[in-house]
Amino acid sequence: MPDLFSPYTLKGVTLRNRIAMSPMTMHRSVDGKVGDYHIMLMGSRAAGGFGLVFPEQIAITPDGRTSTSCAGIWDDAQVEGLARMCAMVKDMGAVPAIQLGHTGRKGSEQKPWEGKRQIAPDHPDGWQVRGPSAITYGGRYTYPVQALSIPEIHELHRAYAAAARRALAAGFEWLEMHFAHGYLGASFFSPLANQRTDDYGGSLEKRLRFHREALDAVRAVWPERLPLTMRLGSDDLHPDGVQFDEAVWAVGELKRHGLDLADLSLGMNTDDLRESPFSQAAFMVERGNRVRRECGIPVAISWNLGTPAIADRVIRDELIDLVFLGRPALANPHWPIWAARELAHHDPFSILPQDWSWWLHNRPGSENSHGWPAPSVTA
Ligand SMILES: Cc1cc2nc3c(=O)[nH]c(=O)nc-3n(C[C@H](O)[C@H](O)[C@H](O)COP(=O)(O)O)c2cc1C
Repeated sequence: MPDLFSPYTLKGVTLRNRIAMSPMTMHRSVDGKVGDYHIMLMGSRAAGGFGLVFPEQIAITPDGRTSTSCAGIWDDAQVEGLARMCAMVKDMGAVPAIQLGHTGRKGSEQKPWEGKRQIAPDHPDGWQVRGPSAITYGGRYTYPVQALSIPEIHELHRAYAAAARRALAAGFEWLEMHFAHGYLGASFFSPLANQRTDDYGGSLEKRLRFHREALDAVRAVWPERLPLTMRLGSDDLHPDGVQFDEAVWAVGELKRHGLDLADLSLGMNTDDLRESPFSQAAFMVERGNRVRRECGIPVAISWNLGTPAIADRVIRDELIDLVFLGRPALANPHWPIWAARELAHHDPFSILPQDWSWWLHNRPGSENSHGWPAPSVTA
């Protein structure tokens, strides 16, 4: 029976455990480039024991960013920083992953701590947002959306492929496409945002066409030996939006198009949720397990899995395959080692890079003096 610390192999890649740092947008890039800050963020989590480490969503085009301070991969000049980041992550024993994305009608934002409102297209830090249909999101996203033409959709699929090529050159070994959280892919899947009457809208099959073509474009350039995954907006929690049954069907289709793992999240194509699950522990796990069973595909889940006993249980019970941690990874760079102590792992320091673990094994000091209290102390 696997546990949270069992290695995990997908295609030609083996993670040292089942714990990933989930992608998190940081608004710390300049000209779409990552820098020392990102290398620190990724490197420290890799050194802290995470098996798979994502930076933020990386934009495939300039208008695919959340704010002008977000990272991108539309230009060869952006590869160098990403390559340094990948090298650091590998040196610390983790696998570097990239999440490619386009924010669609939810782009052109202020930084969260500056107000998080959408910025007007004629402002120097704003742009004309694009989406499947000319439907404004609402709430704090107030500006008109330009509906994409079919040639523009094809251009975006070429941008996904070009981004994947650069990601490979940078050294990433795991590629996730971000089609959740109300961003471009998620909005194509949702009737709340997509009311097209051409081949990219209408029936469920047509609402998935954008995904299939993007996946095909990436799979054509991303090696078979490396995992290709998707974060899918699997439920809009709204009667007129994406229903979870549709997502189950969609994952089956995407599997036939080369998807190796489904990372299931919410659609977030509206703020008008009929139920708010955000205060419940592990609320996506049941949905994830259904996809895992019915589609026969590995599944990763995030959302409120930061309690070690819960994270371990969902792996031991084989409900899902990987635990993605967002906020817990921000709060505690050494979450995996802390969790190992909490779960009475036989050797928590074995999760650290070899040199650190050597010192901690061979220079033990007095009992419980290493900074991670033993479970009996925290209990
Ligand atoms: C600061 C922050 C930024 C985030 N940015 C992204 C992102 O770029 N891409 C994405 O798919 N999810 C993003 N998320 C969502 C997380 O990846 C994760 O799915 C979510 O926080 C739930 O996991 P948690 O309960 O462990 O935090 C972000 C979350 C936070 C807290």
